[in-house]
Formats: sequence, structure tokens, C-alpha cells
Amino acid sequence: MSKDPLSPPAADVSEAQIAVHWREEALIPPPNRFIAQANLTDGAIFERFAPDRFPECYKEFADLLDWFKYWETTLDTSHPPFWRWFVGGRINACHNCLDRHLVQHKNKTAIHFVPEPESEAIQHITYQELFVRVNELAALLRDFCGLKAGDRVTLHMPMVAELPITMLACARLGVIHSQVFSGFSGKACGSRISDSESRVLITMDAYYRVGQLLDHKEKADVAVLAAEQDKHQLEKVLIWQRHPGRYSSPTKLIGGRDFIVNDLLPKFRGQRVDPVPMPAEAPLFLMYTSGTTGRPKGCQHSIGGYLAYVTWTSKYIQDIHPEDVYWCMADIGWITGHSYIVYGPLALAASTVVYEGVPTHPDAGRPWRIAETLDVNIFHTSPTAIRALRRSGPDEPAKYHYHFKHMTTVGEPIEPEVWKWYHGVVGRGEAVIVDTWWQTENGGFLCSTVPGIHPMKPGSTGPAIPGIHPVIYDDQGNELASGSGKAGNICIRNPWPGAFQTIWKDPERYVRQYYSRFCRDPQSKDWRDWPYMAGDGAVQAADGYYRILGRIDDVINVAGHRLGTKELESAALLVPEVVEAAVVPVTDQVKGKVPDLYVSLKPGLAASDEIASKVVASVVSEIGAIARPRHVIMVPDMPKTRSGKIMRRVLAAISNGQDAGDVSTLANPEVVDTIKGLVK
Ligand code: WTA
Repeated sequence: MSKDPLSPPAADVSEAQIAVHWREEALIPPPNRFIAQANLTDGAIFERFAPDRFPECYKEFADLLDWFKYWETTLDTSHPPFWRWFVGGRINACHNCLDRHLVQHKNKTAIHFVPEPESEAIQHITYQELFVRVNELAALLRDFCGLKAGDRVTLHMPMVAELPITMLACARLGVIHSQVFSGFSGKACGSRISDSESRVLITMDAYYRVGQLLDHKEKADVAVLAAEQDKHQLEKVLIWQRHPGRYSSPTKLIGGRDFIVNDLLPKFRGQRVDPVPMPAEAPLFLMYTSGTTGRPKGCQHSIGGYLAYVTWTSKYIQDIHPEDVYWCMADIGWITGHSYIVYGPLALAASTVVYEGVPTHPDAGRPWRIAETLDVNIFHTSPTAIRALRRSGPDEPAKYHYHFKHMTTVGEPIEPEVWKWYHGVVGRGEAVIVDTWWQTENGGFLCSTVPGIHPMKPGSTGPAIPGIHPVIYDDQGNELASGSGKAGNICIRNPWPGAFQTIWKDPERYVRQYYSRFCRDPQSKDWRDWPYMAGDGAVQAADGYYRILGRIDDVINVAGHRLGTKELESAALLVPEVVEAAVVPVTDQVKGKVPDLYVSLKPGLAASDEIASKVVASVVSEIGAIARPRHVIMVPDMPKTRSGKIMRRVLAAISNGQDAGDVSTLANPEVVDTIKGLVK
């Protein structure tokens, strides 16, 4: 049964089945040294969070925070599925991540900023210094930009200390930030600016990636234009300098619109801004993510519920203690970075590492050198990064003196072989591992072992965390018995404080996409009738551990990043020669999945490298380089059903070198062999 999990899947096997075919691995107990110091070792926690204690059990989450006004209602469920947590409370996220720590921790490092060039010194920003810098920026945003609570601001910033500083300054004012991953194109940023109706864009002139100082300001110009095409006029563009005092971009500034933050800041030196006491239910940020249609969804997260959730999970699942040095090697442009680089760790007064560059630059020893230098003891990353580091430097970790007590994996299923390398080589067998399953919509972890309580199982995420009650439905909506080992649609029975509140400006889509399919009664006011549908396939083994099998919708998980197939297809269709486009996921040894893009051309046009390049260029400019297809395959026709539906399943089989199965019912079965010939 044991096979190399990195070899291509066997013929005609769905993504769900591939994962099921992983051998059930033996349980591995957490190291005693870890348990001896863990924040949570008492199994009674699951009784405290049993379904009959819902929702009051979540008071324990909220009590990790400082409230200006304590809340009255733990959970208001009167308008399903729009749940409202900690109603009546007043709170400020920035105050919780900064001000309240100053008495005890002002001299402690809040952020270790590690520039990509190794010649550039690491910056250690104390809580006091962070407090000063956030206040000065908040004063600038308030007085120079006129920003106030409820306004939206789009951030398109790389992995630099100024990014959390900017997020916290917004949070201090009650301004809603919407950080767009810096690798996204200017156009992708522009559509998020217009959708959120942001008044201001905050960006940086340049940043380092794989040894190059990339021009980033040019994307701001594209973004502003793209937003204007959507009839949204931005007021100002604020630009941080990657090297303070020096403008590092060849792209010109536009007078009256573009302002260098570093030039403006001296005017606000020493200023203090009181944190605005916001309703617990006010939005903290928007995070756009891909779904089944071409339009990204702005997931709206609350201040009180979200912050309570990420703080509790950081303390008990990440096991962060005050003396720990915590490094999550994700990008703050994704939800993992928001929750587990910025808000969770800072709410606990931890020292959090922000690394600018790619893990393998200039070599695969880089992460372990950083870990040694900063004495990192909690490490958090994705299977894609682990696979890349294993491939390019399997022996590197042993060369460095660091000791991890705790390691996390997130974002994709991790193959047991890869897990074992992470455990044995990166963690030297000393570190406990949590495989955390969750989504942009969820705010924080849903499933994971509790590291001081549960044994680990390679390839499985573990049981649900305290307070989360999953259920798996088959396609007909029948509940699968717990521990059935059968694949189905994983849902969460109950609301939880970290869950997003709605899709920005699109509440109907929120209900339709996440709550309608398994809703027992759309008229019901009882939260029990409204399970949350995650959009993932999953199985639960007899021991209660879940294995996540991948998306059941039109989303591809490329290197742990969510891409909507419709977004790629829409980008291809912008090329005038293209009439049809279909994207399929292809198994990749490092990135998990990569997209293959099939296109058919206008009648009479011949396939050419030029058209293929135009298609790639359109994808990169509409979305960004992360969406670059592996191959653009120009086909004479798409395989179609008699009703004209493109059979992506057939294309996916061809791209993955599998048997396409029975194609005799297609309207044009003969095209299958032609396409096979093109892909070889
Ligand atoms: C997938 C990332 C297997 C899943 C935090 C989910 C995982 C999507 C895991 C969300 C895991 C996330 N094991 N699959 N531990 N964690 N996924 O919104 O398909 O970027 O729906 O959030 O990633 O991706 P997102």
C-alpha cells in the first residue's frame, strides 16, 4: 500500500481518492519536554467547550483581551447566518496588540524584521518603538488623509515591518484595512480598491525578492487606473520607502496624488492618537479570496470575535509563551499572516518574525540561519515551502544550531513522507507538529491537534479544536456517521467568533455560497439549522482525526495559494484570439498543484507561441505571477458534452498523464486523442 506520495497519481483517480490512498499512519505522541511546558494539557477543555456549553464557552476567548466596555451578549443569532459576537462590547485591536503590553514588555522585541539581503542588518523593533511608530502613522492617516473609523484603505505592501505598522495604525483609528498580497498584479489590486471603495492606497516603492530590488510603485499606477475604470476615484497614494530617505523606484511620482510616507512622518513626530473604542462587531479588515466566480470575495472580519479567536488559538494551538520567538514564514498578504504573524502573536506580546524574502534565497539554509540567529523556537510554514526546502537542501537543517519546540503546517494537505522529513530533520524529532486546517473565511484554525494533548498523525489535520463541531455530509445532504472513513463535504455545525461576518457588499453571495446547500430550513432562526460549508472534501477516521482531501469547487490550491479557475479563464479570454478557456489542476512535486490552461482560438487562427505568450502575459497582468500557467495548450476544440459543457475532467486527466476514462458520450470524442498528442 505504501507508495511514494510524490509520484504522479494512478490512472483516473480524483484528488479526493489520492489522499485517501495515503496509508493511515501510526500516532506519534508529543515530546514530554513539550508537554511539560505547554499552555494547554488538560483534556477537560473539551468538556468546557462541549456543544451544550455553546456559546457561553467562548467567554474564555474574549477574556484574553482588554475591553473598553465589556460585552453584554456572547452571541446574537437572531439573523441567521449573520452571527454577531460579543455584542455591546467596545474594543480596539491596536490597543490590544500594543498599549496594554507597554507596562510589562516595552523593552521586548515585538517584530524582528529580516531583510532578504543578508548584508542588511536585522531590525529588532521593541513594543515601545512599535507604539511610537504606529501612533505617528495613525496621526498622519487621520490628519493628512482625513481617515476615520469605517473608511477603507487598501494596502499593497511587501513583507516589511511597515506592513504590520500600517495595519495597526489603521486598526487604532477603526479604519478597515484591506491588504492585497504584494505578488498580485496592479490590476488585481485595482479591482480590490474599487470593490472596497478605498479612499487611500498604501504601498512601498520597491522590495527584495530572489536577490532583485523589484519596482513595486509601478503597480500602484496600474491599480489606480484599474480602479478608475471601475469608476472609483482614489484620493491619495501613500508610498513607503524600502530604504528610508531614498526613493528606490524608477517610476515617477504623480503630483497631488502620490506622497512619500517617510517624508511626511517627521511632521507627526511624537504625536499620540488615542485608540478608538470600536464596537466589537465593527470590521477590522477585508481579505479578498478566490471563489467559484471570477470576482474575488472580500471576506469581512470583525474586531472582537476575530481578535479573541486568533489570540486564543495562538496561545493554545501555537503554544506561544511570552519568552518565545515565533516565526510564521507566510506572507501577511494572506490570512495566515494576518492571524498568525500579526494579530495573534502581538495580542500575546510575543516576538514575531517578519521575513522579506523567499525561503530558498540565497540557498536552502537561509531559514535555519535565521532560526539560529534569532533563536526562533516556534516555526510555522506551508507544505509547499517544506517540499521546496527538502528538495533543495535536505541536509541543511542539521548544519545550524536552533531548536524548535513547536512547528506548524498550514494551507494544503501534507504528504506523510514530507511530514516525516519536517518532523525528523527540521524539528530533529524534538518539536511537536500541528497540521492546521482552516480558510480565509474562518479567521483562525478549525482543525488541529492540541499540541500538548493529542498525538500527531502524519497526513491528517487532527480533530477539531475546542469549541468547533464539524460534520461531514454526503452529496445528498445525509450526515455521515462520525469516524466513518467515508469522504464527504466538511461543514461546521456551530458559529464561532473568528468566522467572517459577510462578503463585503454581497451578503447574498455569503448566504448562497457557505450556508444554503446544507441549510435545513431557510426560514429557521435556529443556528443549528445553518451549518457552515467549507467547500472542502474530508474524511474522518475512526480515531476522530480528519483528513482534508482538497477543494470541491472551482478553486485550485497552487503552492498553498487559492486561485479561482474562473479568474484565470477570464484573463485568457481577454486575449482577442481566444474564444474558450479551461483551467485544470496538475499535480506538482513542489507546489502541490499548478494550473494548465487550455484555450481554443477563433476559427481560422493557427496556434502560435505568440498567442501562448499573450495568454500568459494576460494572466500575469490580471492576477499576478503566482497564477502563471504551467502550459498554455491551444486545442482545435474543447472536449464537450452534448449540451456543450466543457469537460474539464477529461482535460485534467490528460494533463496529469492519466486515463481520460470513457469519452464515448462526448459530443466530439475524437478531439481527445488530438489533445493528448498536443500535451505530450
Ligand atoms: C486548504 C489558508 C489540507 C483547504 C489558511 C482550504 C488545507 C484552503 C489545510 C483554504 C490543511 C488549508 N490541510 N488542506 N492543513 N489548510 N487547506 O483560504 O482546501 O488560503 O479550503 O486559507 O486551503 O485556503 P486559504
